[in-house]
Amino acid sequence: MANSQKNALIVGASRGLGLGLVETFLTRGWRVTATQRKASPDLAKLRTGALTIETADIDDDAAVVALHGRLSSQKFDLVFVVAGVATQAHDPLHEVPRDVAAQVYLTNAVSPIRFAEVFADTVAPGGTLAFMSSILGSVGLNESGGWENYRASKAALNTNARSFEIRHRERPFGVLLLHPGWVRTEMGGADADIDVDTSVTGMADVIERRLGEPGVAYLDYTGETLAW
Ligand SMILES: NC(=O)c1ccc[n+]([C@@H]2O[C@H](COP(=O)([O-])OP(=O)(O)OC[C@H]3O[C@@H](n4cnc5c(N)ncnc54)[C@H](OP(=O)(O)O)[C@@H]3O)[C@@H](O)[C@H]2O)c1
Repeated sequence: MANSQKNALIVGASRGLGLGLVETFLTRGWRVTATQRKASPDLAKLRTGALTIETADIDDDAAVVALHGRLSSQKFDLVFVVAGVATQAHDPLHEVPRDVAAQVYLTNAVSPIRFAEVFADTVAPGGTLAFMSSILGSVGLNESGGWENYRASKAALNTNARSFEIRHRERPFGVLLLHPGWVRTEMGGADADIDVDTSVTGMADVIERRLGEPGVAYLDYTGETLAW
């Protein structure tokens, strides 16, 4: 195996955008470790020598630490936390039970940062730590309302990722917050603007262009900078 082969860890890859990213990076010649919560038949279908499948729930701290233990001998050019939830996203905030609202916040805004904290030492010099954000996480661009609790959780992810980047500024990797577009997945629904392939091809292009760039950027899948 050539030493120049890039290595990615894609977290939350059982379906949707995570699965699409795994397929895209494998096609581009990367080595990929992909995580699922439970056995994903779609992920299993991709199995090649370049793909390793691991199991972990990002809300389970012990599982994340155990995963780190299994992978800590590796360096990743990309660690991408894709996993996210949109439970009761269509209900206004006051109609979402407190425990449901809190769980969306934990999964979307807290667990990705905790995961990144555990895996920061596995990011290769000149690598990228990416989080799956959303344009809905932009406070400034919120002129339509809706998806209130989900929106707030992604805004919190953006804020937490900025703090994470400041805390780790001396480390030799950059941080990306990516908006994948409105994509036809289980979460995005059938009426969404673009298909998975368009989104993940765009995100992979953005990631490959920016590998090694320090600091934090909030970009969409075309590489356009979004307002915080
Ligand atoms: N689709 C869009 O239009 C859109 C737009 C903006 C942002 N996003 C973001 O993009 C990401 C992926 O979304 P998607 O559209 O691909 O959604 P999806 O089809 O619903 O897939 C969600 C993925 O996250 C995983 N996941 C959820 N909770 C997890 C946890 N606690 N630990 C580990 N994995 C977990 C799921 O695993 P299981 O299969 O085990 O449930 C699944 O692989 C999310 O962060 C979402 O907020 C999507």
